[in-house]
Amino acid sequence: MNVEQPKLQISGLSKEFRRRGQAVLALDGVDLAIAENEFVSLVGTSGCGKSTLLMIVAGLQDFDTGEVLVDGQPVEGPGRDRGVVFQSYTLLPWLTAQQNVEFALRAAGSKGAELRERAREHLALVGLDRFADAFPNQLSGGMKQRVALARALSYRPKMLLMDEPFGALDALTRHHMQELLTRIWERHRLTVLFITHDVEEAVYLSDRVAIMSNAPGRIKETIPIPLARPRRYDITTSAEFLELHRRVLKSIREESIRAAEMDEALAEG
Ligand SMILES: Nc1ncnc2c1ncn2[C@@H]1O[C@H](COP(=O)(O)OP(=O)(O)OP(=O)(O)O)[C@@H](O)[C@H]1O
Ligand SMILES: [Mg+2]
Repeated sequence: MNVEQPKLQISGLSKEFRRRGQAVLALDGVDLAIAENEFVSLVGTSGCGKSTLLMIVAGLQDFDTGEVLVDGQPVEGPGRDRGVVFQSYTLLPWLTAQQNVEFALRAAGSKGAELRERAREHLALVGLDRFADAFPNQLSGGMKQRVALARALSYRPKMLLMDEPFGALDALTRHHMQELLTRIWERHRLTVLFITHDVEEAVYLSDRVAIMSNAPGRIKETIPIPLARPRRYDITTSAEFLELHRRVLKSIREESIRAAEMDEALAEG
């Protein structure tokens, strides 16, 4: 394999939606490359096109112009090389935690004892082995997202795509999930594209934070996060961390101010 080749290469990507006969340009010339085993967070004001970008990479949304390559191959639809975790709970309510993971593994061609063993192993990875037989309505929000993470990791994708996966969780559960994800990622390494509105979360988890400009979305800048690993939660109070946090926040804030000014100019006609 070519070590120079990014795992994910997005070039000149544009996407237009139609809403009540009106064209809405969601993405306009997105360029972003993610290296193998790199953890990149995507941040930006609401409506700037983050989810649209992730759905396109997942192969769940089409696009107009540009190129999306995974390992140099164009994305043509969803695939087992990319695992996806969304903000809303997407477990099947009539299946237990174990069966939810097995369901994904079965779709990926796994069978019999291997199927059951792998599902169990991945529930253990997220610390839920004791809850294998629980149904989603018997699990807390954080536990449901742990099952979703186990499910996405179970068929061993090369890339994990996460759209505000901890967005619906309370602050404490969210911290636990961030630590869990960091620990899993530092041990198993895979390429991650992670969307969040939480700047602290983005800086804590990532190798690099990509900031999107306002709608139509484009990558405004990417900020490397050279904090040492393994990362423990206490780094979030270090001077180095706070400086990175400040830089990312400033960049996003510039975009929201620009958006407000544009709205005002439009209103004044
Ligand atoms: N299916 C759709 N049909 C029409 N317009 C859409 C559709 N999906 C997204 N859009 C529009 O595209 C733009 C980008 O939306 P997107 O959901 O990607 O933003 P986002 O950055 O994920 O926002 P948030 O942070 O609020 O989740 C918005 O103007 C949105 O209204
Ligand atoms: Mg979104």
